[in-house]
Amino acid sequence: MMISVDRDEEGRLKDGKNVLEVQNVTKEFGSLVALNNVSIWIEEGKITGLIGPNGAGKTTLFNVITGQFRADKGKVFFRGKDITKLKPYQIARRGIGRTWQVIRIFPNMTVLENLMTAANLRERNAGEKALELLELAGLVAEKDSYAGELSTGQQKFLELVRILMFDADVMLLDEVAAGINPTEQLAALELIHNLCDQKGKTFFIVEHDMDVIMGHCDKVICLNFGEKIAEGTPKEVQNNEKVIRVYFGA
Ligand SMILES: Nc1ncnc2c1ncn2[C@@H]1O[C@H](COP(=O)(O)OP(=O)(O)OP(=O)(O)O)[C@@H](O)[C@H]1O
Ligand SMILES: [Mg+2]
Repeated sequence: MMISVDRDEEGRLKDGKNVLEVQNVTKEFGSLVALNNVSIWIEEGKITGLIGPNGAGKTTLFNVITGQFRADKGKVFFRGKDITKLKPYQIARRGIGRTWQVIRIFPNMTVLENLMTAANLRERNAGEKALELLELAGLVAEKDSYAGELSTGQQKFLELVRILMFDADVMLLDEVAAGINPTEQLAALELIHNLCDQKGKTFFIVEHDMDVIMGHCDKVICLNFGEKIAEGTPKEVQNNEKVIRVYFGA
């Protein structure tokens, strides 16, 4: 990994640009060590990919960051503040939003209503904001359709822009490109890039599709059996011996 002047010896940015930091986190389920002393840092305004085989601990890491699971050891920092012990809603309110491996929207509500349930009740312009977000997601024409009637890809878009209703700065996406067609995949990635470039949003994404990871992430982290085995640019991780062994058994 390239280490420039403003990075410490481990490659972390020194000037507070690491919007999210996980320090030495361990999470056990009984005798299963789902995360073993994992440390990562996420740079603001960038797309960081999280890869690893099934059961590697990717979703568990998201659950620890967003407060769904309490870490057994270690800490999580958001903009330098310790959020390890906060509740999920408190973490969400600070600006960390997430989507789920299994889509979570309200199928019997309309698309617009789905967004409004995520709005801050005191916010006066919530309706306007929702429409703006639907525009961004290409879902304006669907605003009055039941969310359950949308295609899988559209439902994922809806879930994504729903997070933006509460102005999340950091978005954790669990397999956003899975199960959607290539056209929708491209559109989703374009939306993610636009949100990074134009609104300074930060993405941390779990993805099994290597083309998505390699073509769209600024940095990639690989977990295996709860341990971080590699991190770096997509190219560095792709050529990492441990990663090759895990993925190709070579
Ligand atoms: N709530 C839980 N209770 C018990 N074990 C769990 C729980 N959640 C996850 N695990 C276990 O922890 C390990 C890591 O699971 P996790 O879901 O984080 O993997 P993953 O990398 O997201 O996998 P996938 O690619 O299949 O989504 C697995 O062995 C899983 O069975
Ligand atoms: Mg998972």
